[in-house]
Amino acid sequence: MEIRISDAPEKGSVAVAAFEKGELSDAGKSIDKAAGGALSKAIEAGRFKGGAGETLVIAAPAGVEGDRVVIFGVGKKSPDGNALEQAGAGLVKALLTSGEKALHAHLEGIADAQGASRFGLGACLAAYRFDKYRTKLSDDKKPSLETVSISTDDNKAAEKAWSHGQAVADGVYIARDLVNEAPNYLRPPQYADAVQNISEFGVKVEILGEEDMRNLGMHSLLGVGQGSTAESKIAIMKWEGGKDGEAPLCFVGKGVTFDTGGISLKPGLGMDEMKGDMGGSAAVVGLMATLAKRKAKVNAVGLVGLVENMPDGDAQRPGDIVYSMSGQTIEILNTDAEGRLVLADVLWYAQQRFDPKFMIDLATLTGAILISLGHEHAGIFSNNDELSDNLTKAGLATDEKVWRLPIGPEYDRQIDSPVADMKNIGEGRFAGSITAAQFLQRFVNDKPWVHIDIAGTGMWSGSKDPRLPTFGTGYGVRLLDRFVADNYEK
Ligand code: BES
Ligand code: MN
Ligand code: ZN
Repeated sequence: MEIRISDAPEKGSVAVAAFEKGELSDAGKSIDKAAGGALSKAIEAGRFKGGAGETLVIAAPAGVEGDRVVIFGVGKKSPDGNALEQAGAGLVKALLTSGEKALHAHLEGIADAQGASRFGLGACLAAYRFDKYRTKLSDDKKPSLETVSISTDDNKAAEKAWSHGQAVADGVYIARDLVNEAPNYLRPPQYADAVQNISEFGVKVEILGEEDMRNLGMHSLLGVGQGSTAESKIAIMKWEGGKDGEAPLCFVGKGVTFDTGGISLKPGLGMDEMKGDMGGSAAVVGLMATLAKRKAKVNAVGLVGLVENMPDGDAQRPGDIVYSMSGQTIEILNTDAEGRLVLADVLWYAQQRFDPKFMIDLATLTGAILISLGHEHAGIFSNNDELSDNLTKAGLATDEKVWRLPIGPEYDRQIDSPVADMKNIGEGRFAGSITAAQFLQRFVNDKPWVHIDIAGTGMWSGSKDPRLPTFGTGYGVRLLDRFVADNYEK
């Protein structure tokens, strides 16, 4: 589906806004007049309240050209970006498979350029589908909507804002496709190839294989992939849009393409969801694509650790002790606490090689974060208040919300081991997300750092938000794009 900023309405349906209590916008009022009051009559007769995301579809009222008039709610008189996203998303949801091909939305007097871009982004987020393996989808179930055109008070400015919005939508689609992909088709080598594809947008991509990693001493990461017949990889993405020689922003992602738990095998029920255990890495890949597509004026590097955690005759055992690249030794007490083992080496490598301004890692790291925060907030853990505050703000601005949880020496103590420098799980089940973060921090050398646990937000099949599809949400791309734009490009 394509978004177009244009004065000339497409042939098809026309969409006008309404506010709380079903009050029509100016564009709505003038169409209502031409239609002999059909719109206000429909509002009165039904339960449409004008909330953001609500829609009311009226088929071809006499006096108005086109197939349908759609009234979409935006809530308050000056809706914020999230309300506009929801409005765009609700509108697309209403017409996506209706048979309609084109739609024109009037945003005059409703949204400025930024707002129009958010509306378009919401429309794209709602249009997302993962249908590539559905060979028998009947024609009347396929999406029909091809174009959403938008008009505003200043289309030139809206056009410019939308070029950013489009890049974000593209990055989110990339992330969602990766998360939703079947794990038999997205093992580490195929994933590395998929990352290579974003070089098309100007990102420099480099791949490390197992031999490279052995030479670097990355036995923490390598141990996780040891039971898999697929070769572990690290993909490194560089976007150089900032000043020459300026320290890069650094994003690190957990890319466990499938997490069986290894020898500490997970229970069978719901294990299929562990195809999404690479959601952190998908967000990093999507973000790098977005930054490149919109030619962000920053230097950024993305690093993703790609492994498959399988049980096997050669798999890592509970009780094994491994040497991480940092030189620190790790006693593996649970092979299912594998994400931290992957990130330990990637974080260390990123720091050594790039000396970045900061590091932000994203990972579907712990089931415990679902117990704490559900699907509504990601958990953040950090040694830096400014980064944490700025991420919290970006979260509120994009509705990809984060909530900071504590770290500290009293938790860190829990991962001390009697036989190695540390063990890979805490004492008992309590504070599981925090002890995981403590583990990561042992591989961060006083660099400003934030860990984002997205086990709850990265995959979600039951959201009521029209912007979110089932399963892969693409969480993190919108959050971090905003975080970068607001703090490093001004
Ligand atoms: N990938 C899982 C975490 C996860 C759980 C993500 C549910 C999404 C939904 C991670 O590798 C894991 O297995 N963590 C263990 C850690 C434990 C063994 C200390 C967990 O959370 O149970
Ligand atoms: Mn695991
Ligand atoms: Zn995992």
